[in-house]
Amino acid sequence: MTLTKKAPTLADLLDWLERQRSRGQVVYDEKQRCWHVLGHSEAAAVLSDPGAFSSDLQELMPQQEDFALFQRGNFVRMDPPRHRKLRGLVSQAFTPRVVAGLEPRIAQVTNELLDGAAGQTRVELIDKLAYPLPVIVIAELLGIPASDRPVFHRWAETFFNRQNIDPDQSLLAAGKEAMENAAPTVREMNAYLLEHIRNRRGNLADDLTSKLILAEVDGERLADEEIIGFLGLLLLAGHITTTATLGNSVLCFEENPGAAAEVRKDPGLLPDAIEEVLRFRTPFPRLARVATRDTRIGEVDLPAGAVVMPWIAAANRDERVFTEPNRFDIHRPRNPQLAFGHGIHFCIGAPLARLEARIALGIMFQRYADISVALDEPVEEANPWLMVNVNRLPLDLRPSR
Ligand code: HEM
Repeated sequence: MTLTKKAPTLADLLDWLERQRSRGQVVYDEKQRCWHVLGHSEAAAVLSDPGAFSSDLQELMPQQEDFALFQRGNFVRMDPPRHRKLRGLVSQAFTPRVVAGLEPRIAQVTNELLDGAAGQTRVELIDKLAYPLPVIVIAELLGIPASDRPVFHRWAETFFNRQNIDPDQSLLAAGKEAMENAAPTVREMNAYLLEHIRNRRGNLADDLTSKLILAEVDGERLADEEIIGFLGLLLLAGHITTTATLGNSVLCFEENPGAAAEVRKDPGLLPDAIEEVLRFRTPFPRLARVATRDTRIGEVDLPAGAVVMPWIAAANRDERVFTEPNRFDIHRPRNPQLAFGHGIHFCIGAPLARLEARIALGIMFQRYADISVALDEPVEEANPWLMVNVNRLPLDLRPSR
């Protein structure tokens, strides 16, 4: 008889995080050889001090040419001043005001996708709506063909859906090994994006790729190779997390029918409900930094070189900040959830993700009088140590009359 290990669930991750927290808000993990930062103020302190906590994790990444190429424009892994310069090239495209202009297109895509499932009372949410919607929106912004989304899906699966990672093994070693295995995917992604950039160069359009081709940093144009990481970061970060948020919202509403009924009655509650979903089922549970010097966080001294993991899933359940943190409550008077990070790397796409979630969920509530998770088919959760996300979410739907 072969014993297969049960797939880890969000509850397992939260139990593990609370066990870590019972030792303190900032604790050293001998096995992982890293520091877990669990408290809200402590995680925010790490994320708001890029001088002491670097995002450049070169040391932890495979020393391999495909990764090195991708890293040249991947500004989430950069520190100031380079980070500020590169982020500045695209930040104007994602302000709440600019993003608000996308509302009609997001509604149109949502309706078209749901029209594609018209007449069906059993619909798999991720395949029909939660995956295609954000990927179509971000691909159109970048000027990349949205019809290639099966390819982007495969890339995202490789990076964010690895099953072989759990706290019984070294998260760092497992992460590095998995990344090494992902090298062919990185190579494929680099080649795809490079070809796209080269084509665009001869055919500029009103999209972000063209803006990056024309942009200057310190008086110099970006090399095609630098634009690769830029586009890859925006393309991947720009869809998979929003897919997660849509699936996570439906799960939270299924578990809290009272909240769903309130939002259905008053769609003005949706933005607060989405913030609570992000707190309760935080898509990226953990971030990573490296200490550049000896530093103190709270009561704890961290040595230079320490690998530090701010667990935003734990910070979002810190009872010093959130009353009854394990209760889903769309009426929290304050909800300083950290799902989008904090400080200089605060998610550039937060306004877009919030808008997509609000529009898509609003339209679903309008079109369907009843939305419930199908009981006779499995819901597939991703590995929560990597991403809190559902890969498959079959729903039973009753259309509104
Ligand atoms: C950064 C989460 C949607 C693009 C981040 C970070 C988090 C995050 C936690 C900080 C990483 C760090 O500090 O190391 C999320 C969540 C989303 C979402 C939960 C959806 C609910 C998006 C979208 C885009 C996007 C739609 C597309 C534009 C980025 C970029 C960065 C980033 C480019 C890097 C920012 C920087 O380093 O300055 N995101 N994200 N994200 N996100 Fe998002």
